[in-house]
Amino acid sequence: MVEARGEASLQPEAILQVRDLYKHYPLTQGILFKKQVGAVKAVDGVSFDLAPGETLGIVGESGCGKSTVAKMLVNLERPTAGTISYKGEDITKMSPKALRAVRRNIQMVFQDPYTSLNPRMTVGDIIGEPYEIHPEVAPKGSRRRKVQDLLDVVGLNPEYINRYPHQFSGGQRQRIGIARGLALQPEIIVADEPVSALDVSVQAQVVNLLENLQREFSLSYVFIAHDLSIVRHISDRVGVMYLGRIVEIGTDAEIYDHPTHPYTQALLSAVPVPDPEARAHRERIVLTGDVPSPADIPSGCRFRTRCWKAQERCAREVPALAVPAEFRLTDSPAKHDSACHFAEEKHVVPTEDDRE
Ligand SMILES: Nc1ncnc2c1ncn2[C@@H]1O[C@H](COP(=O)(O)OP(=O)(O)OP(=O)(O)O)[C@@H](O)[C@H]1O
Ligand code: SF4
Ligand SMILES: [Mg+2]
Repeated sequence: MVEARGEASLQPEAILQVRDLYKHYPLTQGILFKKQVGAVKAVDGVSFDLAPGETLGIVGESGCGKSTVAKMLVNLERPTAGTISYKGEDITKMSPKALRAVRRNIQMVFQDPYTSLNPRMTVGDIIGEPYEIHPEVAPKGSRRRKVQDLLDVVGLNPEYINRYPHQFSGGQRQRIGIARGLALQPEIIVADEPVSALDVSVQAQVVNLLENLQREFSLSYVFIAHDLSIVRHISDRVGVMYLGRIVEIGTDAEIYDHPTHPYTQALLSAVPVPDPEARAHRERIVLTGDVPSPADIPSGCRFRTRCWKAQERCAREVPALAVPAEFRLTDSPAKHDSACHFAEEKHVVPTEDDRE
């Protein structure tokens, strides 16, 4: 089924346009004669745009399909269906030669700086490796200088070029991963949980680095994370995923201060609030039940098995990701895309006004 698209979240000048993206992994039975008996619907109809210079945050519980979306954006996975257009051209249908040129412009930063760097390669070789495939960016004689510049750009001493990954801390290793992501001078960086494996004290430094690099090199980011506070800090817009789909998307203020989807409201109600007075004003929404299997997605609204507002209609009709009718003619910040038949605004994170 094709997801109805939210008119509010799509942007005509987008550098990246994702439309009706699906990734279904077949489930097979039998040893000699494999028969498909179903599919893991890891990504099940995702659409969004990324504007130049923008950061789009993607949040959602474990297993909701965030990494699968990321991998399709950088062509590490091929979509089952849908399109990913970079500057108007669908990269899922490009020839290998055309794709090679485009891939240069969309790079990924991975979650785990401990496993994503080859322990047997020097930092110089790790950062400079992409030049082997794209020598046009840095001809052989200039590579050492380029890598040293990149080390400097990410806040590491250029003299560390001959060291090995184990000689660095987690935060420093993630800086190396970021330097490698920048080597080909991309326009888009897809960062999949780039700070989740780091100590809390180091997370802010790496997020600040990403923000500075964005300004310096006019980068667009797709920033994936579990931590809603970090996502709010870095993102211009935020998409909330549940079981393979985006269920709500809008600017950071729309999503955090005026969420209309029950799932977003539940996620936000679980964010730790340090101020005890603010905490007292916060209503905690506890979700019951486990996330259903992506191989067996509930009919109608996929969130209905855990939603405290679910009604009979929710089992029958798939809610479109669109501005809910009741907000369409208003100027309210609740006027953003939300896939719920009974969308309502609900303050979950206490604001200054709530405390007065
Ligand atoms: N190669 C694969 N074959 C079968 N199922 C897969 C494959 N890769 C991912 N999945 C399944 O697809 C779903 C989405 O996985 P994905 O890694 O995209 O989630 P995620 O949102 O990134 O989770 P996390 O927050 O834990 O990183 C999960 O149920 C996962 O088990
Ligand atoms: S459509 Fe129904 S089940 Fe789904 S989020 Fe809205 S109220 Fe809940
Ligand atoms: Mg993931």
